[in-house]
Amino acid sequence: MKKNILITGGAGFIGSHVVNLFVEKYSDYQIFNLDKLTYAGNLENLKEVESKSNYTFLKGDIVDESYINSIFFKYKFDAVIHLAAESHVDRSITNPNEFVFTNVIGTLNLLNAAKKSWANDFEDKLFYHISTDEVYGSLGDTGFFLEDTPYSPNSPYSASKASSDHLVRAYGETFKLPFVITNCSNNYGPNQFPEKLIPLFINNIITKKALPVYGDGNYTRDWLYVVDHAIAIDNVFHNGVEGETYNIGGFNEWKNIDLVTLLCDLMDAKLGLSKSTSRELITYVKDRPGHDLRYAIDASKIKKELGWEPSVTFEEGLSKTIDWYLDNDVWLSNIVSGTYKDYYKNQYETGNSN
Ligand code: NAD
Ligand code: DAU
Repeated sequence: MKKNILITGGAGFIGSHVVNLFVEKYSDYQIFNLDKLTYAGNLENLKEVESKSNYTFLKGDIVDESYINSIFFKYKFDAVIHLAAESHVDRSITNPNEFVFTNVIGTLNLLNAAKKSWANDFEDKLFYHISTDEVYGSLGDTGFFLEDTPYSPNSPYSASKASSDHLVRAYGETFKLPFVITNCSNNYGPNQFPEKLIPLFINNIITKKALPVYGDGNYTRDWLYVVDHAIAIDNVFHNGVEGETYNIGGFNEWKNIDLVTLLCDLMDAKLGLSKSTSRELITYVKDRPGHDLRYAIDASKIKKELGWEPSVTFEEGLSKTIDWYLDNDVWLSNIVSGTYKDYYKNQYETGNSN
């Protein structure tokens, strides 16, 4: 069925995988990618689809209410898949306001525009909000996040995401806006901006810079290959039950220090370096304030109800990811320049970050 679908944040890491998948797979959908192109947005991520007739790029800011209203009026979207966000925890500690503007007000603007545009006909309409497991706060050494785990966000980033989740749910309750929410664990893979752990450390190994491990390195994250997240989003978009939340995760927990040593060893092998060369770059640095100890998703609901599960093992995914960064050195060097240099200096070199 012909549909106009608005995907926000499609030039970013996860969004670009979602846009690429939808444009290639659904020729009867017109995909509108709305992105402000912040430091994290990169049109290079969309080269394969940019000339396709079912793809339209819209440069704009979700915080700009009149612009958002105007595109809903002009393009009469049938559905929204909302990924646009400020997404890096460390940046939320140094500049929380930007996170509230984009993640909270931006989401509110989209909800209002969808509500207005769909006012008389909610049939076949959907507001799909992409969220994170960080809204649940931190786990101790055991247990998992379930869909009904109470929200307990600890960083300005996760608080802003939690706030946006609540708004989406409230618009469903109050105005009957059809919605679905997914909360996913840490993603890794191609196109990720090298401020997040895995691409940052790959880049630092390539450029022989220190690998800044926060605190004692005994923090745990649950890692999912980004393509598997995009496949899950496709599944939930088409088969998810309206008003439901689904947790998405890889059942793949790693302590940071174990992941970093594995990454070092894989990089040594791929770069032809002698054993332990990259491990020598590991440097313990000041901890992240409010650092969540452990995230772990119980993804049984999406597996049981929608039949989704990860298709790529961590070893395969990490190997593919390293290969991608080694093959795309121009992509990487284009990014690691300009304002990113200032961010890096402030975060890791001045000693006054956090
Ligand atoms: P990202 O930072 O790589 O990309 C965000 C995109 O949003 C960029 O293209 C940016 O230009 C765009 N954007 C930012 N502010 C905007 C604004 N005001 N108006 C329009 N566009 C704007 O983020 P990501 O890692 O791809 O995350 C995408 C979504 O998935 C986010 O909502 C994030 O909270 C969520 N999420 C991320 C992860 C993860 O591990 N990266 C895990 C779970 C959920
Ligand atoms: O859990 C989902 C979330 O995963 C997403 O919602 C966020 O958008 C995404 O950024 C990610 O958040 P994290 O804070 O877990 O990811 P990050 O890559 O920043 O850090 C992963 C772990 O590595 C975390 O325990 C902090 C640690 N770390 C990170 C950096 C950047 C370091 O030890 N050193 C670093 O330099």
